[in-house]
Formats: sequence, C-alpha cells, structure tokens
Amino acid sequence: MRNVKLEDLYHHHIVQKYVNRSGMAHAIDVAESALEIAEDYQVDPDLATKAGFLHDIGHYEWYRDGKWDYQLYKDNDIHAIKGAERAHKLLIRLGEDPKKAKAIALAVLLHTDSYLPEGELRLTPLQECIHQADTKVEEVGGHHHYRKISHEEALMRIQALDRQIEYFSVDEELIE
Ligand SMILES: [Fe+2]
Repeated sequence: MRNVKLEDLYHHHIVQKYVNRSGMAHAIDVAESALEIAEDYQVDPDLATKAGFLHDIGHYEWYRDGKWDYQLYKDNDIHAIKGAERAHKLLIRLGEDPKKAKAIALAVLLHTDSYLPEGELRLTPLQECIHQADTKVEEVGGHHHYRKISHEEALMRIQALDRQIEYFSVDEELIE
C-alpha cells in the first residue's frame, strides 16, 4: 500500500515551486529513468520514482546579472542537503511511512557528491539507482534543467508512473 502517490507530490505547491526551479521535465525524466533501472538494483520502484522525482527539490537559483553563474553555484551549492530536508518534510506531511521518507531523503542527499569532500562513499542500491538515473539523463551544460514541459504532459507522465508502480506492487503481492 502506498500512502503517497507521485500525483499527490506533483500537485503539492512546494513541489510546484521548487521542482519547477530545477526543471519539471528533468525531475520526471529521472523518475522514469529510476523506474527503468529499479529492477537491476532490486529496489522498491515506489521509493526509486519518488526519490528520482524529488532529487533536485533543494536547488537555489544562482543568478548573477540575469544569467546562471556556474562558479557561484559550484562554490555555494548545497542543493542535495536542502533537498533531502525539504523532501523529507513534505513526505511526512503527506503521510508517508517514516522509514520510506528516510530512505528517499537519504537517496536525495547522496544523489550527487559534487558538494562533498573527496572520498569514497559506499552507496546503498537505492542511492546508487538515483545517482545513475540522474547521470543517465544529464545533458552537457546543464541543459536538462531548462527543458520545458506542459502541465498536461507532466501530469500524464506522472499518472503513467503511478499506474506502473501500482501494477508492480500488485505483482509483488501475488508472488508473496
Ligand atoms: Fe538532477
């Protein structure tokens, strides 16, 4: 049973405000890509799609004179930390299971290591799945953040993901 659907997240004003900042099209691409590879990592498709969808919810806008300043971003960015906290708070408010909310928040926290000191991180399968899903849809120059999507297309793809996850969970119940 899922307490929270992707569609519940999609309609929430916090998601509309912050996910649109880093790109709704990109967030949906990563959720779809996470679902595609979830099986390879043996991770719960519900967690993978939610973490994929919310992974960039912590972005701040680093503009200088109307243009994105990559150096300013690189020097000051903590979007994964901010995003983990924001995603967690949102999921708990919507009634997500606390263990699931924690796993999703940690996958958001560790989807990139660009803000961390050099070192080896040993990621869990879910964290690795989200990192790979994000990397798979990345475009040179960060263009993936700027791709536009209509509300209708976004909602259609979110609902399609929800249907696939429901289908997976019914399948799983049959196996058990
Ligand atoms: Fe991303």
